[in-house]
Amino acid sequence: MKLYGVLILTLLFSLKAVSQPKTTALPQPVRSGGMPLMEALDQRCSTREFAPAELPEQLLSNLLWAAWGINRDESGKHTAPSSNNKQEIDIYVVKANGVFRFIPKGHLLELISDDDLRSFCGKQDFVASAPLNLVYVADLDRTDQKDYSAEPVASYSNVGFIAQNVYLFCASEGLGTVVRGWIDKETLQAKLQLKPGQKIILAQTVGFPKK
Ligand SMILES: Cc1cc2nc3c(=O)[nH]c(=O)nc-3n(C[C@H](O)[C@H](O)[C@H](O)COP(=O)(O)O)c2cc1C
Repeated sequence: MKLYGVLILTLLFSLKAVSQPKTTALPQPVRSGGMPLMEALDQRCSTREFAPAELPEQLLSNLLWAAWGINRDESGKHTAPSSNNKQEIDIYVVKANGVFRFIPKGHLLELISDDDLRSFCGKQDFVASAPLNLVYVADLDRTDQKDYSAEPVASYSNVGFIAQNVYLFCASEGLGTVVRGWIDKETLQAKLQLKPGQKIILAQTVGFPKK
């Protein structure tokens, strides 16, 4: 009887392990259209009430490209600038079905966890129920900063540009968003399985605004 229990548990764990592929290609981002820039700036605002509906895959793909996708294939440079072109920011995509790291080269998502970790992405109630949280993480090993305990000042500005790209994309697409610093970073660091040189800078919630 005990043996059956162990076998069933092993089967369940292995099913979970293979339930999602390790890396998936996002649909090709649509790199044209959208609202005129001045209108998007006119509409940009923070939203803290979200409908639970998931973002369709194409919209997520376009959002990630707008945020931090590669817009010049020849140089591998991005839609946002980065100090000394260090490109040290990773976007962790936290959804109900798991956590994924956005890989701009190839426009891919790498599976980090099958768990729903949204509730760890911030201290405000809407964070756990909104469909999507982007967590901006600086990998200091890609920079010249060797002291992990110092504030990564350049990374804060680099994330600011990405977050504003997300704000403008959301304004253009009728999505709601808010950038956030009120996070238990120590707990989230552990939940996202980050290395000591990876620092959480800010997070940003995205979803359709609650009607
Ligand atoms: C660095 C930074 C951190 C922020 N942290 C939070 C936060 O933790 N929670 C939150 O609800 N809003 C946060 N905000 C959003 C601001 O509260 C918001 O931008 C401000 O109230 C102005 O509103 P607006 O974005 O609609 O113009 C943050 C904004 C910035 C730039």
